Amino acid sequence: MPDLPNLDHYWMPFTANRQFKAMPRLFKAAKGNYYTTIDDRVILDGTAGLWCVAGGHGREEIASAVAHQLRTLDYAPAFQNSHPLAFEAAERLAQYMPAGLDRIFFTNSGSESVETALKIALAYHRINGNPLRNKLIGRERGYHGVNFGGIAVGGIAGNRKAFGNGLAGVDHIRHPLDISRNAFTRSIPADGGIALANEFEQRITTLHDPATIAALIIEPIQGSAGVILPPAGYLKRLREICDKYGILLIFDEVITGFGRLGTQFAADYFDVTPDILTCAKGLTNGAVPMGAVAVKREIHDVFMHNSPAGAIELPHGYTYTAHPIACAAAIAMLAIFADEKLEDRAASLSAYFEQAAHSLLDVPFVKDIRNVGLVAGIELEPTPEQPGARAFATYLKCYEMGVLIRYTGDIIAISPPLTIEKHEIDKIFSCIAAALTNIAADGDAGLDATRYLKNEQLWAAHQQEIKSQQTALEHAI
Ligand SMILES: Cc1ncc(COP(=O)(O)O)c(C=O)c1O
Repeated sequence: MPDLPNLDHYWMPFTANRQFKAMPRLFKAAKGNYYTTIDDRVILDGTAGLWCVAGGHGREEIASAVAHQLRTLDYAPAFQNSHPLAFEAAERLAQYMPAGLDRIFFTNSGSESVETALKIALAYHRINGNPLRNKLIGRERGYHGVNFGGIAVGGIAGNRKAFGNGLAGVDHIRHPLDISRNAFTRSIPADGGIALANEFEQRITTLHDPATIAALIIEPIQGSAGVILPPAGYLKRLREICDKYGILLIFDEVITGFGRLGTQFAADYFDVTPDILTCAKGLTNGAVPMGAVAVKREIHDVFMHNSPAGAIELPHGYTYTAHPIACAAAIAMLAIFADEKLEDRAASLSAYFEQAAHSLLDVPFVKDIRNVGLVAGIELEPTPEQPGARAFATYLKCYEMGVLIRYTGDIIAISPPLTIEKHEIDKIFSCIAAALTNIAADGDAGLDATRYLKNEQLWAAHQQEIKSQQTALEHAI
């Protein structure tokens, strides 16, 4: 039985803590496309960690760059000082960005990138003489991280409702998922995009004065809410409407950036350039926390030209902005993208991946399959009494069978490292099919989480036992 750490003190994020601690799923190592669990089981990573490990795990290039940097310059103050790698990382990232987005602000996460982008949008209009342009528009089911700006423009009710009133001056447009029309579409749905985008114009003209809107923020593909794809023409039309009314368009590319769709960014895939682009995750292969906001040069220059000499142009930043270790990791990862052309690899695998995903068409409970590049969403029929239970049971069963998948609600999301092999793609989807078939065969009992991961449950129970013995001993002394 592996030694478990004391599980009491760590309050886990976006996790059912009590449930997890009753069947802990702990990794101790990772290499390539696989994790190793604390009891030496090997688990295929069907999710690139949390969409972040684009280049596969345990990259030596990143490890040695980070180790070298740690020994050379561990930290430099981010405000009024810096270090050469910050500028090098920014230059390389600017070269990797869609043309024109070549001014880079570094952050430590996707959430911070979003907050930074929203603040830049608001401050831009103010410094440009339009202080009344201060409303932000997001989208239903959008996910933009967990900070106050991000949850305000985000559209996932569960992430908002516990936390008060949020930001004022925020509105949302509709999300583009329409299963009744587009179920089982392969790649981007053909219809409905223009009409849906036109609703944005209609809403801002009837409900707001468009001259009061600072920015529209969207994920080109909504990832966290279940892989929602924009119909053809939708993003281009949104771009046109933003241009017509002087509204900044922000693409949140935290998961679509760095090759996921088979192009560097979704902006490249859809041939639509936003004014501001947020990213994180794949920037350092998930190895060191880092995010970035890429801004059009004209926007950046308005700050430079309109601020008094000697003034701080943007009163915003983090202690760890452009941290030397993160910059070293980002430079190493951008070199990996250049050397290995991971985006092209993703593009060339996408047809195979699509075929494998859509092979689940007749598997029990499968209600829709959506895919593009190396991302797929598999939406399940929920059980009315226990929403999410089917996807959770599928996740547990797949884990038991050696494949890591992700789920939100009753939607499974697959987003493997871009280094995934064809036989591993087969394994991911055949495992999901087997899990769902198994759950269907077991009826209601198949939804009972306690029937999965018996080892993990045993360890947790064992740990509890040791703890209560210790407590009894302490009381006895
Ligand atoms: C589109 C999008 N924006 C922002 C975030 C938040 O990133 P982080 O968890 O690094 O704060 C995520 C995370 O998955 C995301 O998918």
